[in-house]
Amino acid sequence: MKNIAVFTSGGDAPGMNACVRAVVRAAIHNNVNIFGIYRGYEGMINGDIRPLTSQSVSNIIQRGGTVLKSARSEEFRIKEGRQKAYNQLQKYNIEGLVAVGGNGTFAGATLFHEEYGIPTIGCPGTIDNDLYGTDFTIGFDTAVNTALDAIDKIRDTADSHDRVFFIEVMGRDSGYIALRSAIGGGAEMVLIPEKPDSMDDIIERLRSGWGRTKRSFIVIVAEGEEMGNAAVIAQKVKLELPYLDIRVSNLGHIQRGGAPSAVDRVIASRMGLAAVEALLNGKSDMMVGIVNSKIKLTPFKETFKKKREQIAEMLKLVEVLSK
Ligand code: F6P
Repeated sequence: MKNIAVFTSGGDAPGMNACVRAVVRAAIHNNVNIFGIYRGYEGMINGDIRPLTSQSVSNIIQRGGTVLKSARSEEFRIKEGRQKAYNQLQKYNIEGLVAVGGNGTFAGATLFHEEYGIPTIGCPGTIDNDLYGTDFTIGFDTAVNTALDAIDKIRDTADSHDRVFFIEVMGRDSGYIALRSAIGGGAEMVLIPEKPDSMDDIIERLRSGWGRTKRSFIVIVAEGEEMGNAAVIAQKVKLELPYLDIRVSNLGHIQRGGAPSAVDRVIASRMGLAAVEALLNGKSDMMVGIVNSKIKLTPFKETFKKKREQIAEMLKLVEVLSK
């Protein structure tokens, strides 16, 4: 393989730049030409492809977002779009791809490989930590730290006013950000899509907690919670417990930005190097993950499986430690 390309796709995540930097420098180290594809699959279709050098990725390891830009491409979902993308790659003789993104990115790469035979290795870049085959995805640790910073600040005002706060955090179908920030932020309750919740239970726990010792209460709600968003749940609680002073805060996209944490910079660097080595060793349709501190390759198809490790243990932590 003499020419490979790297791109970032889907929701951006802090640490994607560190991963791109590692891919570029690992390729150069192995005497392979490296190209950057801008705006993910959109840029592949439109031919927004440029050669990268070691200097192209100087001074980016500490930056949030992605210098390669990102997009969620509708056109790549259709056959004509993928044909255009293949034609563009042919112009540059690109023989292999490193995709930094989440499950949508890997699903696209699998299809593309089936149709056109271009091998792809993935690096898990998403704040959601929802991919099977890695303990942590790139961006998750930073997102949780950002959420924690906000939760700590909300706790100050909740405590001063004896208030109940429902704080919504990101995670499309996944409660990982919610769970980890609930534990780290000392939340009284956490609502996640992986566990069925009931309004009666929530109301009962608030009622009994308030009556006992609690004078402020933090409930972390994952974006994907099946009973509805934080505002909807808060409204229902207020109807049943009108004496509670309730506020809602949605942390939103601040969780996606900012300088990557040390953890994210290091895992992104390790994964980027491993991705290039895997590609050069003839591997394809696999994601590089880190499991128990060791690099591990997992077929893309398996990474879409729901990961449920540690969820019960983490839920227990929130419950036991909040009393
Ligand atoms: O996948 C990362 C993520 O931030 C999810 O947590 C969230 O549901 C989604 O992206 C939001 O996407 P967008 O920025 O396109 O609205």
